[in-house]
Amino acid sequence: MPLENMKAMLAAAKEGSYAVGAFNILDYNSTKAVIEAAEDLTAPVIIQTSAKTVIFWGSSAIMSWIRELVKASKVPIALHLDHCKDLTLIAECIEAGWSSVMIDASSRPFEENMSLSKQVMEMARPKDVTVEAELGAIVGVEDDIHVKEQDAHLADPEQAVQFCEQVKPDCFAPAIGTAHGVYKGEPKIAYDLLEEIASKTPIPLALHGGTGLTDEVFKKCISLGCAKVNISTQLKYAFIDGFVNYHNAHNTEYNPLKVIGSQFDALKAGIVENIHLFGGAGKA
Ligand code: 13P
Repeated sequence: MPLENMKAMLAAAKEGSYAVGAFNILDYNSTKAVIEAAEDLTAPVIIQTSAKTVIFWGSSAIMSWIRELVKASKVPIALHLDHCKDLTLIAECIEAGWSSVMIDASSRPFEENMSLSKQVMEMARPKDVTVEAELGAIVGVEDDIHVKEQDAHLADPEQAVQFCEQVKPDCFAPAIGTAHGVYKGEPKIAYDLLEEIASKTPIPLALHGGTGLTDEVFKKCISLGCAKVNISTQLKYAFIDGFVNYHNAHNTEYNPLKVIGSQFDALKAGIVENIHLFGGAGKA
């Protein structure tokens, strides 16, 4: 199946009160783990690449392994560029075949955020590429984007409505109190804000900072309108722990393929669990 953009999968998720899992991949092995998990569960899925991962491997190398893996798949798969501030990199990914991109101009003043997000909409539309945009500032570290606690702020509900009406992104990420990375304490999610924004815009919402949230938080956010859930840190941990744990248990073996296999199993197990939790199983 060719790559799809996020439009139909997010519309169906919003309608069916479930969410599509969006997983940040790191390489071929992690991409394969995401696709196999989605295949096993007959679930739609979003493969996300951080800007840093794109720069590390190069867009054409990533595209070549994605094309290879997606070719035989029977479930809807989108390839999405996560948090990107750089319009040149966004243009490169659109050109290379990404089916979806995120413009993160949330650190800019409101009008500038809208204007840059609109610019990306204009770049993406002719190629049938979907666009996610963000408002507010999500605390934590995602790639090269560091937001300190004192700089984090929730999305303003009136600005959120104005943003959605004027920019019309395909997916909207308002800051609602979740965090990128590992939670230091109990997250304070602004459910009222989420509910208010969801009731005032038909645009599917994205829940960022998925790693470490409880089952209850996921379920509540999804029931209130989040149709996309982002998971990154969990995959980083599984990637390294899957590798290290195997080596520690077999420290004289030096069989790289077994280590890679163990890493794959750790990644896939977490992804399967998340897809179940978000209600995506059987929805492809
Ligand atoms: P975590 O790293 O907390 O899972 O957040 C992922 C995310 O929101 C990526 O945009």
